[in-house]
Formats: sequence, C-alpha cells, structure tokens
Amino acid sequence: MIEDFEQDEQHKRTRKAVETVRPATVAAVVCPFVSGSRGDSRDSEAKLGEAVGLARAIDLDVRVAQVAPLRRVTPATLLGKGVVERIKAAVEEQGIGLVVVDDRLTPVQQRNLEKAWQAKVIDRTGLILEIFGARARTHEGRLQVELAALDYQRGRLVRSWTHLERQRGGFGFLGGPGESQIEIDRRLIGERIVRIKRDLEGVRKTRAVNRAGRKKARLPTVALVGYTNAGKSTLFNRLSGAGVMAKDLLFATLDPTMRSIRLPNGKDCVISDTVGFVSDLPTHLVAAFRATLEEVIEADLIVHVRDISHPESEQQRADVEEVLRDLGAFDEGAGRPLIEALNKVDALAPEVRWTLENRTATGAERARQYPVSALTGDGVDQLLEAIAAFLSAAGEAREVSVPLSDGATLAWLYRHGEVRSRRDEGETAWLTVALDDAAAAQFARRQAR
Ligand code: GTP
Repeated sequence: MIEDFEQDEQHKRTRKAVETVRPATVAAVVCPFVSGSRGDSRDSEAKLGEAVGLARAIDLDVRVAQVAPLRRVTPATLLGKGVVERIKAAVEEQGIGLVVVDDRLTPVQQRNLEKAWQAKVIDRTGLILEIFGARARTHEGRLQVELAALDYQRGRLVRSWTHLERQRGGFGFLGGPGESQIEIDRRLIGERIVRIKRDLEGVRKTRAVNRAGRKKARLPTVALVGYTNAGKSTLFNRLSGAGVMAKDLLFATLDPTMRSIRLPNGKDCVISDTVGFVSDLPTHLVAAFRATLEEVIEADLIVHVRDISHPESEQQRADVEEVLRDLGAFDEGAGRPLIEALNKVDALAPEVRWTLENRTATGAERARQYPVSALTGDGVDQLLEAIAAFLSAAGEAREVSVPLSDGATLAWLYRHGEVRSRRDEGETAWLTVALDDAAAAQFARRQAR
C-alpha cells in the first residue's frame, strides 16, 4: 500500500517534470559562449538563433535573447557575475518566469542561478527534454522521453527535492530506518526506469514484427532524416501528398510518420519522416532516442534533407552524418545508399541557385545531391526519380550459392542484402538476394578471396 502510494506520487512528480512548460511563459534565452574554446566555427549568434528557435518550439514567449561571452567559467554559476546581474535586471524588467541557459548546468549552478534570478532555470538538456515531451506522440516516444527525463532527474535529485531531504523514521518498510528521502526517491526512480525499459522492450518487439511484415510485403523503405527545421515534414507532405503537420516549429515530428507512395516507375515504397537532429544533442539523449530512429537503421535508402539556404548548412550536414554513423545507419563503405535533398533552393539568391542547379560537375557527390524546394515543388520530380533509381538498384535480386559451412558469409548476406528466398541442398545454400551496388562489389571481393 505505502509502496503503491509512493510510486504514484513519484510517478506524478516525474510526469510533471516531463510536461510541457505552460504556453506563453515569458522567457529569456542565454547562450554562454567561450570564444575559441569550442573547437568549431559555430558562430555564437547562430547558436543563439537555434536556441531561441528551440525555445519557441515549446511556445515560450522569448523576450530576451543574449549571447553571454565567457572569459572563464565561474564554477558556482557558470556565467560571470556581470552577466548574472545583467540577466537579473532583464528578468525583473520583463517579468521573466523562465530562463533557458543554452549549455550544460550542474545541479548546483542551476540552483544558484534560480536563486539569483528568482526564476525557473533550465539548461539545454532540460529544454530538449521539454521539446521531446511536448512532441512525443506514440507510446514508445512517450516512454523514451520519460526514460530520458528520469535519468536526467536522478542526477538532479539534490536540487529538485531538497525539501524532501529528511530522515524517515516509521516502520522501515521502505528500506531500513534512517534511509533518507533522497535515497528513496532515487530507488523509486530506479524501479520506474526498470519498468519503462521492460515496456519499451515489448513495444520494440511489436515494431520489429511490423517491420518484418513490411519486408515480407517487399515494400522498400525510404527514411527522411535531417537537421531540425530543414524541411523534412514539408518534403514528406510534398512527396506523399499527405496533410501531416508542418509548421515553422523545430521538432514538429518526434515519432516517425510513415506513408506509402507511388514512384514514377510505378513501384511503391514506404517513406518515413523522422525526428530532427540538433547540434550538441547530449549523447545520452541520442541513446535514449535511438529506437525512434530505428526506421532509419532499417531503411533501404536514406534521404538527407538539408536546408541549403542555412549559413551553417555544411556544419549541420557533418552533425547529422556523425549521428547517423553512431547509429550504424550510415557508413560510406558499407553500401546503404544515402542521397541529399538540397532543400529551400527558392530561398537562395538567384545566382547561387542557378550555379547549384546547373553544376556540370559529375562524380559521386553530384550524383547524390538533388536541389529541391519542398515549398514550391521545384526539383521534386527529379528527386522522386532518383529515389526510384536508387531503390531499384538496391532491389535487383540475384541467385548466389554459399557452402553451408560458411556461416560468416551467410550471416553477411542476411545483414547486407535482402534475402528473398533460400533453398538448402546438400552442402550448399542457394539464396536469392538483393544487393545494392556497393554490397554487390563487396560480395564479389569476398567470393574472390
Ligand atoms: P522538424 O520536425 O523540427 O525536424 O522540422 P522539419 O525538418 O520537418 O521542417 P518543416 O518541414 O517543419 O519545415 C520547417 C520550416 O521550413 C517551415 O516554416 C517550412 O515552411 C519551411 N520550409 C520547408 N521547406 C522549404 C522550402 O523548400 N523553402 C522555404 N523557403 N522554406 C521551406
């Protein structure tokens, strides 16, 4: 009984933390920037712009947005005294209730800043969790958000629940007498995490079954990936003719949305829209959202949607490719085709657009890049043709024979190709398998050894 009650209370508290910040909360965004120390060229103003965009994605009314140059890190507050005071004045003047600090804050720094500003403070991880919480639509998405939030909170118990820090006497049902409230909270969170992980496992199995069903139906899948706000949902709508929500909000999509579409060659494929990537996504969140991107790992073709009009387009591309590589979804040598939709060409200066669309360069890069405007529809037909071409190259089946004793090659074929049928005769396995060009070349090399 007592335990149930405790768990319910616990559940309510954690749910509350995952809930969206109330609409129209008046907010400030502060972007700490140590010049030269980040080792990349990301310009502070662009970083601030992105953080403001993220804050607006959860309906925060951002009245103050400031880059806070740091000459050195102040351990107690991260930000220097001058900056803390400047923000304090702005908080009072504008009636700000929430300050987003676009960096990682320790629990102590967060608490000190809250005291100094008399406002709620969240850091970048907290902000991204709020966004994920607001956008999660499926059961799995919600479980993942809760898991990530609990994990984040576990490290912050000292901060959020100091008022609960007291010695618990009583009957000693919940651990021995003297167990502090924080330890109980930590244990309850741990238990909840275990339960969520178990639920997630079940949800994933169902997804795997669905995916296997699609594979059986032999519908190839195309995953749209890309930086947040690159235009994935808009392109998805354009390609599928579906009315999926697309607005000028970051993370309009958290869970993959799927539609089947007919390609110009008359074949069908399934197209999936995925969650947007952000710069500096804390690695533990990447891990937590990995399952959301399972469709990408399984896809026959990845279409990387890029906002080519964005000043940091190249940096964004590198960020996305890095995450894809981490997920094992993108490996230049391993054969899964990836093409780029260079989106928003309508927003380019005419001469820049002309140059992009009329490049005569050939080579691998050119063959993989398709200038489009999801907004106006320009270039979308060519993109669809490219998708059809890449999929049919990936889908040409051949019959191969492998000695049954060569388990490694058999396993390789199942991993890198789509095995459509198999017949074992004597010592030999005969397989009909579809391999894309790179995998076919690799297979030929294997056979030649
Ligand atoms: P997330 O779901 O946050 O990852 O975003 P997304 O990549 O799905 O972007 P979305 O399709 O929501 O588009 C973001 C913004 O870019 C919207 O305001 C779109 O209208 C705009 N947009 C999308 N495609 C184009 C384009 O081709 N040209 C221009 N000018 N704007 C575009």
